[in-house]
Amino acid sequence: MEQPVTTAPRPRTIHFTVNGVPQTAIVEPRRSLLDCLRDDLHLHGTHVGCEHGVCGACNVLVDGEVVRSCLMLAVQADGCEIRTVEGLEAGGALSPMQEAFCRYHALQCGYCTPGILITLEGLLRENPQPSDEELIDALSGNLCRCTGYQQILEAARAVIRGETASREVPV
Ligand code: FES
Ligand code: FES
Repeated sequence: MEQPVTTAPRPRTIHFTVNGVPQTAIVEPRRSLLDCLRDDLHLHGTHVGCEHGVCGACNVLVDGEVVRSCLMLAVQADGCEIRTVEGLEAGGALSPMQEAFCRYHALQCGYCTPGILITLEGLLRENPQPSDEELIDALSGNLCRCTGYQQILEAARAVIRGETASREVPV
């Protein structure tokens, strides 16, 4: 009996903008955006945690929205604007939230921090004055096992109070 011929889906060329820089990548359709960012573009600030959408370590902004990059296929990012933690600073200046993290000792294990910064950036873009409940709710998508979230909350509250000069992070 004749065997069915199976062929692997062919790699696709995608064009997107990452941290303001136009990029082209050739990716297999099954490749995640997370793997593409880390392995193809060498942006290692976006971390690999659970790889099934639970921990938030892989969060990036896609067209300004917080997205789990382990759950998004790279091909779905074709034509999108991506911002990773490497793109939060501008011209060597940290973003207000990054500055506040330094000032309030909110940098903990470092593995989760990029995803947490992206979550907060996404939240404040959508809602610059979130309530404490909304802030805690947003951070509930980032699992930190090393300690409490106290310093992270203090840093975020300082930015929300306007204690740190605001600066637009480009889309
Ligand atoms: S690695 Fe994507 S949510 Fe955990
Ligand atoms: S900041 Fe990573 S486990 Fe707490």
